[in-house]
Amino acid sequence: MHHLGHSGETKEMFQAQSHLYSLTSIFVSSMSLKCAVQLRIPDVINDHKQPITLLELASALRIHPSKTTCLHRLIRVLVHLNVFAETLVPKHGGGGEEEEVKAYVLTPSSSLLLSDKATGLSPFIVAMLDPALVAPWHFLGDWLQGNRENDCSNKLISPFEAAHGLNLWDYGGQNPEFGRAFNGAMAIDSQMMNLVIKDCKHIFQGLNTLVDVGGGTGTVAKTISEACPGLKCTVLDLPHVVAGLPESENVKFVGGDMFEFIPPSDAILLKLMLHAWSDEDCVKVLRRCREAIAGKNNERGKVIIIDIVISETEDDDAEATATKLFFDMLMMTVVTGRERTKKEWEKLFSEAGFRQHKITPMFGLRSLIEVFP
Ligand SMILES: C[S@@+](CC[C@H](N)C(=O)[O-])C[C@H]1O[C@@H](n2cnc3c(N)ncnc32)[C@H](O)[C@@H]1O
Repeated sequence: MHHLGHSGETKEMFQAQSHLYSLTSIFVSSMSLKCAVQLRIPDVINDHKQPITLLELASALRIHPSKTTCLHRLIRVLVHLNVFAETLVPKHGGGGEEEEVKAYVLTPSSSLLLSDKATGLSPFIVAMLDPALVAPWHFLGDWLQGNRENDCSNKLISPFEAAHGLNLWDYGGQNPEFGRAFNGAMAIDSQMMNLVIKDCKHIFQGLNTLVDVGGGTGTVAKTISEACPGLKCTVLDLPHVVAGLPESENVKFVGGDMFEFIPPSDAILLKLMLHAWSDEDCVKVLRRCREAIAGKNNERGKVIIIDIVISETEDDDAEATATKLFFDMLMMTVVTGRERTKKEWEKLFSEAGFRQHKITPMFGLRSLIEVFP
């Protein structure tokens, strides 16, 4: 095809414009995904048991006929983003030669959104795109240029706190619906640990006790205690998060503040915790962890961290690196944390007085880090 305005410089300018327009509208991906999840489109496609046509989907979702083409546009963008896939099926009632129409099926990504699966990520997507978590992004520039905005103890506050007047954890305590959705999202993320725990039982071998610091509603602790029956797990989290949660023989809950006290134990688990805090706070928590595992006869004492390691050169694919960088921005915006490179992790460990550590990449975006006194 002949294009107008394709002299070198003009072409480059239009490419740059297109690039910027693409970046400007990247949020359309997130919001289209959220909409599909809220409409439960993955469940509807799955329940249909065969590829679903647009008209069948519109009817199942009770979409008014005047909006069928709008639904088509939503599905089209999600097919483009590989959330759904397209196939052709015979058109019913077509006379003569068999006519075909487009129909939609799940991809591996949308299969992870089904609500009947314990690993179904739909509530995670809805919670992470809650307006309360999206609003702080509008404050980012002002926040960057602002003075060292501080709370009463002179600590840097996040754009989330600048927007809502409360940090994420207190906001969750004061807005129970948001808090429940957020804790539920974390629990769902943790459900996928079931798939890998059997491969890393050796990490917990020889331990009698484990404290999951910031362990939320205890999903990971339950998974570990089922995989390692002799292991007694304690979940330490904020009082409003653990209040009234049912305990079992091997999983107990303690409400408290990890900056004040961490119950003594053979080992400490920190899953997706330290990335939500500043270096200063992480060193404080790691020192508390060191005290907690310092028992006289605890030769196996260690801190087990499951978190992101930024390694722009070692990731399997560019999407993984981009996601880690996006998460880094997210940690800056909604909490006071950051994602860290190997060197940055090492610095935290040595400042907290640990002498050895081992980093093993695993679980998609996460790595397993074992830290020894
Ligand atoms: C990002 S979530 C991680 C939850 C869990 N480890 C997981 O991976 O599903 C952070 C957790 O830290 C908890 N938390 C926040 N401040 C805390 C504190 N000062 N002491 C203990 N837990 C805290 C939150 O309530 C939340 O459950």
